[in-house]
Amino acid sequence: RDDDRISKIASSIRVIPNFPKPGVMFQDITTLLLEPKLFRDTIDMFVERYKDKGVTVVAGIEARGFIFGPPIALDIGAKFVPMRKPKKLPGEVISEEYSLEYGTDKMEMHVGAVQPGDRVLVIDDLIATGGTLCAAIKLLERVEAEVVECACLIELPELKGRERLGDKPLFVLIEAA
Ligand code: PRP
Repeated sequence: RDDDRISKIASSIRVIPNFPKPGVMFQDITTLLLEPKLFRDTIDMFVERYKDKGVTVVAGIEARGFIFGPPIALDIGAKFVPMRKPKKLPGEVISEEYSLEYGTDKMEMHVGAVQPGDRVLVIDDLIATGGTLCAAIKLLERVEAEVVECACLIELPELKGRERLGDKPLFVLIEAA
């Protein structure tokens, strides 16, 4: 049943070669969003995994963590906290610099959104090098939250992002080449 759901979800994700630059095979989840049943299955698979794990915060990473994070947060009764690109959040922020598959960036989070002792699930669409999730984990640990797990739809195992997360557990639905 899970394998059936996962293979259908995987088939609905479109791969666009050479975007946003030559050599990158872009995993485009917007085609999954066009199939409500499969979008629902995707959310359900995360909800089934996290509903009884005492998660108090779902932290979603800009941009596509903002698509998958909120429905999961609502279903498990957790807060949703956006982890954003620089200069987007209006309140006081803490920030962390990181390198990604193409370029470098900075991630910001509102001060006070996550409290010491919060149990956090970090959500994004994809892990490549792991730099983005690492920055999110650092930000959350700086405010003394506990990162329970990171979860993505897609992992690119060749880039070994999982190793960069050290002992932080990573759950993914799909491994892509
Ligand atoms: C992609 C993806 C992850 C990140 C993963 O975001 O959605 O957030 O890269 O890469 P990493 O594991 O090597 O850090 P992207 O850079 O395309 O930004 P966007 O979501 O704002 O489009």
